[in-house]
Amino acid sequence: AKAVVLKEDTSLPAATKIKIRDSVKNRGKRVRVSGWVHRLRVQGKNMIFVVLRDGTGFLQCVLTDKLCQSYDALTLTLESTITICGVINELPEGKSAPDNHELTVDYWECVGKAPGGDEAISNKVNENSDPSVKYDLRHLVLREEKASGILKVRSQVMKGFRDHFDNRGFVEVTPPAMVQTSVEGGSTLFELNYYNEKAYLTQSSQLYLETCLPSLGDVYCLAESFRAEKSHTRRHLSEYTHCEAEMAFISFDDLLDQLEEMVCDVIDRVLAHKPSADIVYKLNPDFKKPERPFMRMNYTDAIQYLKDNDIKKEDGTFYEFGEDIPEAPERAMTDKINRPIFLCRFPAEIKAFYMKRCPENPLLTESVDVLMPGVGEIVGGSMRISDLDELVAAYKREGLDPSPYYWFTDQRKYGTCEHGGFGLGVERFIAWLLNLHTVRDTCLYPRFTGRAFP
Ligand code: 4AD
Repeated sequence: AKAVVLKEDTSLPAATKIKIRDSVKNRGKRVRVSGWVHRLRVQGKNMIFVVLRDGTGFLQCVLTDKLCQSYDALTLTLESTITICGVINELPEGKSAPDNHELTVDYWECVGKAPGGDEAISNKVNENSDPSVKYDLRHLVLREEKASGILKVRSQVMKGFRDHFDNRGFVEVTPPAMVQTSVEGGSTLFELNYYNEKAYLTQSSQLYLETCLPSLGDVYCLAESFRAEKSHTRRHLSEYTHCEAEMAFISFDDLLDQLEEMVCDVIDRVLAHKPSADIVYKLNPDFKKPERPFMRMNYTDAIQYLKDNDIKKEDGTFYEFGEDIPEAPERAMTDKINRPIFLCRFPAEIKAFYMKRCPENPLLTESVDVLMPGVGEIVGGSMRISDLDELVAAYKREGLDPSPYYWFTDQRKYGTCEHGGFGLGVERFIAWLLNLHTVRDTCLYPRFTGRAFP
């Protein structure tokens, strides 16, 4: 049999070019839609069902009779690009398709044929592929519904943070990624050659945000941070998106209140966006908004909690005051308590140089980690040292050369104030919201040990 050559019927009304997201409001009219063949089902010789994907949605299209008999129809493959014309009609009861409607095609053409056979996308990567293959072929995996859905929610989460801060009068700033000072200690710095000088990729924009308070007031940024992490865990990346904020003339309690308000407000904003809410509840059906107020627990009480609940170190001994609580016990405790926790007032010796001491106990700092069930720490924050002499002493104690920090020290010299802020890992927030096993799946192209491609 000879393949049919298709021609558009010029006597039909002109088709309006639309994106799939606008398909409901364009029902009943003749439309033109372009996209990728997401699903393909051939039913006998005279019917082909295509689910078309254009990034804005999915649209079932039905090709009948001679539309199924062209060369392109007979050789159509998944992920080919096509342009389709026809009319979208609501489906009768008992049939189901995305948005409960279907485009009845009157003309279509192939724009770019994808390979079939061994080279077919389903043979290159599928659900059963090894994780390393999935990361090698991330550019193809992104076409899957789950991977793209996560990125769509991510977009709304980022918008949620921006809207949250903009609504409260915070100014967004764009701090540099190439720096010559560390914030969180030397061990996780990525070093680079900067015109033959030593420089680093930033670990945190906090110190720069602090310098903005006198000129811009409360500030925030959504910027990439970089960590040469030695730990290969499901929540550590080498590059991550850091949402950081800094506020002047606040108390530690104000800081905690602001954090709680932010987490809850951003969740509300994401869920108010219907397409995102649908994805959240699809990926995480049991998701419940956290109850307020969040539990507030001191580090000292957490050490006691670990003892009371028989959560031990690998060597069988208990964690003692002054020790860092690593990922495993932190998660064990958070999962057991099963609600967000503000873990407060860590000992100064295990925290960063810039943290303010507690007035009631100078061994402790006015610091907070926000812990979420399933993920653990998603935020680190604190009040900052406000006294010049105390800051100078802190550099000394930590063995930091104060000279490259002159611009930071000047903040304490030229009109100091009580201030504080925090940094939230956007990928960890999303992993918690969507109940994902790893933060890697929340990134467009994740960067972790051994992987800086594609
Ligand atoms: O607790 P961290 O190290 O705190 C700071 O960097 C402060 N200077 C922030 C501030 O006060 N402005 O990091 C803050 C958060 C962590 O709670 C975690 O969510 C995230 O950043 N984070 C990482 N996320 C993914 N991969 C990594 N390697 C991360 N390291 C930290």
